[in-house]
Amino acid sequence: MEKAMSDFVYYNPVKVLFGRNKISELGALIPDGKKVLITYGGGSVKRFGTLDRVKEALHSHIVGEFGGIEANPTYSTCMEAVERFKEGRYDYLLAVGGGSVIDATKFIAAAIAFDGDPKDIFGQGVGKGLPVESAVPFGSVLTLPATASEMNETSVITFKEEKAKISFSSRHVFPEFSILEPELTYTLPKRQLANGITDAFVHVIEQYLTYPVNGMVQDEFAEGLLRVLIEIGPDVVDEDNHDYALRANYMWTATLALNRLISRGVPGDWSTHGLGHEITVLNNTDHARSLSAILPAVMVVRKLKKWDKLVQYAEKVWGITEGTEEAKIDAAILKTVAFFKSIGMPTNLSDVGVDEADIDTLVRQLKDHGNEAISERGDQTLDVSCEIYQKALDLNF
Ligand code: NZQ
Ligand code: ZN
Repeated sequence: MEKAMSDFVYYNPVKVLFGRNKISELGALIPDGKKVLITYGGGSVKRFGTLDRVKEALHSHIVGEFGGIEANPTYSTCMEAVERFKEGRYDYLLAVGGGSVIDATKFIAAAIAFDGDPKDIFGQGVGKGLPVESAVPFGSVLTLPATASEMNETSVITFKEEKAKISFSSRHVFPEFSILEPELTYTLPKRQLANGITDAFVHVIEQYLTYPVNGMVQDEFAEGLLRVLIEIGPDVVDEDNHDYALRANYMWTATLALNRLISRGVPGDWSTHGLGHEITVLNNTDHARSLSAILPAVMVVRKLKKWDKLVQYAEKVWGITEGTEEAKIDAAILKTVAFFKSIGMPTNLSDVGVDEADIDTLVRQLKDHGNEAISERGDQTLDVSCEIYQKALDLNF
């Protein structure tokens, strides 16, 4: 019988307000009388006037601020925000920032309402992995298109002591709304623009590059998103190019890349993210840079496992129609690496400061975090992950 997609539920209640000057609508989005704690990062929203615009739009609400959420947000910083929220008797959260601020706010929202030790919201060797039953309502104003955190139910938190970067997901931590103003990307430096394009690219790949199950819409959507990222990537990373249409396409593509639309009913392989998180834990490499340093090696080492989809990727995404199947696959891997390089991203581990002596540590971390049987078939053992890290050390095309 023909393979078919598996059964699924698709639920996504996030109201997206996309376009120019949407921040001005904030006052109407948050119910009257709510006392709002605005969360933000290291100060870019202050520097570039976004926080002032947000406060102006919320002039009829009582608001407070919690700044200082770091990139790769930590558990301890989030817990400080939980205290601030409770002491100040707030009842609504508003995240203004990139994936780190939105992820942190999701955890803060869940931790405030959690009955017990909030660490237990996380599994993978850090806590008990207990379900989240409720969370404080929150919205977001997105300043960095990359993670799609603005339209999904996942949060990734870093635990410094445990040397871990762990996610949790819950339907209670979807933002109630997210404001997407493409013009907010105009202040992003090249490094973050390249990170955003890359993170979105790898998100699509990890929901696509597995084995075929005849998910026609998922495949076509995924291929379309990849083609758009390849087309616009080099222009987006030009930080001086403030073309509205270009940035609008960048922003919406990144959101669609991980709002779960393309993952339902088809297998997924989050091994590049799994291996990448351990690099960030090790030496604080930017999330997306950890991904581009690993993905080419995943494609090389897992070629046989991903054969059919790699051929499809070569043909449908890169337009490679000549040669044997293997020649198409190899050409597609080369094109992927060239694309990352063209937008200034690292493509091997040396580029992100990891050397041979670190690999044991990375593999041990994977083990500590329960990542011993990952990928679309659960057959990526620690040995295979070790082989991928080894391959990624000095992969040079
Ligand atoms: O902290 P500030 O001063 O605001 O500066 C930030 C930060 O330094 C800056 N920035 C953000 N918007 C800006 C800006 N600078 C100028 N103009 C703007 N408009 O950019 C830097 C990076 O921000 P961050 O939020 O850390 O980046 P990103 O959005 O890439 O988020 C990365 C985090 O998201 C997690 C990652 O693991 C990482 O912790 N992820 C979350 C996912 C999810 N929720 O589904 C999935 C992803 O795979 C990912 O794991
Ligand atoms: Zn990611």
